[in-house]
Amino acid sequence: MHIHFDIFTLFPEMFGGALDASILGRAQELGYLSVACHNIRDWAEGKHRITDEPPYGGGGGMVMKVQPVVDAVESVLGDARGAVPVILLTPQGRVFDQRIAEELAQHARLALICGRYEGIDERVRELVVTDEISIGDYVLTGGELPALVLIDAVTRLIPGVLGARWAPEDDSHATGLLEGPHYTRPPVFRDLAVPETLLSGDHARIERWHREQALRRTFERRPDLLKRTKTNLTEQDRQFIERLRAEATDPGREEP
Ligand code: ADE
Repeated sequence: MHIHFDIFTLFPEMFGGALDASILGRAQELGYLSVACHNIRDWAEGKHRITDEPPYGGGGGMVMKVQPVVDAVESVLGDARGAVPVILLTPQGRVFDQRIAEELAQHARLALICGRYEGIDERVRELVVTDEISIGDYVLTGGELPALVLIDAVTRLIPGVLGARWAPEDDSHATGLLEGPHYTRPPVFRDLAVPETLLSGDHARIERWHREQALRRTFERRPDLLKRTKTNLTEQDRQFIERLRAEATDPGREEP
């Protein structure tokens, strides 16, 4: 499987380093991912190739012009338009999460428009945008970093990108539970020992330990996730959560 991203931006230089390093770089080398960065300014008309102007009605700030963005998207997507989601990154969009990443990873091609300045002419939405995504309830200087966040989260879901032994469906958020702690060598560092269970070689016990740590971490940090977890909780899980509840209300009861 392969996904192609078309990015429409006024700052293509923001993408090089982030896309070329580590797993995203390797995903491109191995043919799982391709990214084309399109500079919106290349479609701007006039001697000065202006891409933004003050808003009608005043109010200060600058607004991205409709013509360069629409011409860029239409000329790059061509006949593929209609089959390709055109996503505007904006704080006004639906809030990105693992479920949306999974949904987007089903597409072979995605177009991302990075908004800048105080906003973008509303007619861009009417003419080319099919979806709007925010990466969280805070305001950034533009949609470039959100586009990178989206590409990263989607690319690691392409089968093969993380290697055969890694299963993205086990990730925090994919299961609906946070992952518990991880350890690697050495077994003791500054008096801090790795939990004995992990060194025991008893695979059933180790698996149960991971499960309980995930439940504990989710209970402590994100109880909201526990309420709507996608994982089916077993009777054993429920009993463990009951114990966590009892510990939380009566810390003296904590078991070793
Ligand atoms: N542009 C500015 N802030 C943003 C956000 N939080 N998400 C997506 N695009 C943005």
